[in-house]
Amino acid sequence: MNLDLTGKKAVVTGGGRGLCKSIAQAYLEAGAELVITGSSGKTREAALEMASRHYPVTAVIGDLSDPENIPEIYAECMRALNGRIDILVNGAGTQFRSPAETFPYDQWDKILKLNLSAVFRMSQLAGRDMLAQGYGRIINIASMTSFFGSEQIPAYSASKGGIAQLTKALSNEWAKKGVLVNAIAPGYMETALTETIKTGNPAQYQQITERIPAGRWGTGEDLKGISVLLASDAASYITGAVIPVDGGYLGK
Ligand SMILES: NC(=O)c1ccc[n+]([C@@H]2O[C@H](COP(=O)([O-])OP(=O)(O)OC[C@H]3O[C@@H](n4cnc5c(N)ncnc54)[C@H](O)[C@@H]3O)[C@@H](O)[C@H]2O)c1
Repeated sequence: MNLDLTGKKAVVTGGGRGLCKSIAQAYLEAGAELVITGSSGKTREAALEMASRHYPVTAVIGDLSDPENIPEIYAECMRALNGRIDILVNGAGTQFRSPAETFPYDQWDKILKLNLSAVFRMSQLAGRDMLAQGYGRIINIASMTSFFGSEQIPAYSASKGGIAQLTKALSNEWAKKGVLVNAIAPGYMETALTETIKTGNPAQYQQITERIPAGRWGTGEDLKGISVLLASDAASYITGAVIPVDGGYLGK
């Protein structure tokens, strides 16, 4: 079994903070060379902070919700990795909470563009290079809302439902050619994205906690093992899967 990522070249979108920062750190610890992308300059600070342990980490800044930016963001990642990519994690994502009947259309549009369309476009660009070299691992970040609809987050749910199907669709076309595509579906995780539930709605926070068989919300640390596994040669027969990492939430 080989979980070593020494010499592999990885791009983690959204890798400067939150869950995907932990995934990026796991890749560094497993020996990969790394580029992280983010929407703000803080991604550079994160890259500097992470860099000292193994290789230099390159930060690429850009708004992935604007499709016009994506080719240049991808090209910058590839320049940093000297023209090879082995692993792509599509982690950048956002959400907005509002009743469906008053949900602002501009938020719907923005969320679908970042959470779903940018994942397709980044995967398409990386997929071309991976197919040409006959090797690649694409890991999308799905959600519990890839399985159920939740409430008051219609755009987020639609985008993450789409991620589950996109993962399977790309896997169906590319697995035979050495490019494996999977998704990780985190459960309820403690990050900036869910901070509003914890601070703004303690009753809901408590209700969710009680429903999690593991008895606690997840953290980025909980995603490290599965991220390395899916990127490694130990997982060469896993593709098209949407894998929950949810403390048992879906099973209840
Ligand atoms: N927190 C949870 O409970 C949870 C659960 C399931 C899935 N997820 C998913 O995990 C991923 C990371 O979430 P998180 O909780 O760590 O969130 P976060 O807000 O801490 O991080 C989001 C990342 O996305 C990047 N980003 C945001 N908007 C962007 C834009 N327009 N262009 C480029 N990059 C942009 C940010 O720079 C940041 O690095 C998301 O896809 C999210 O949907 C989170």
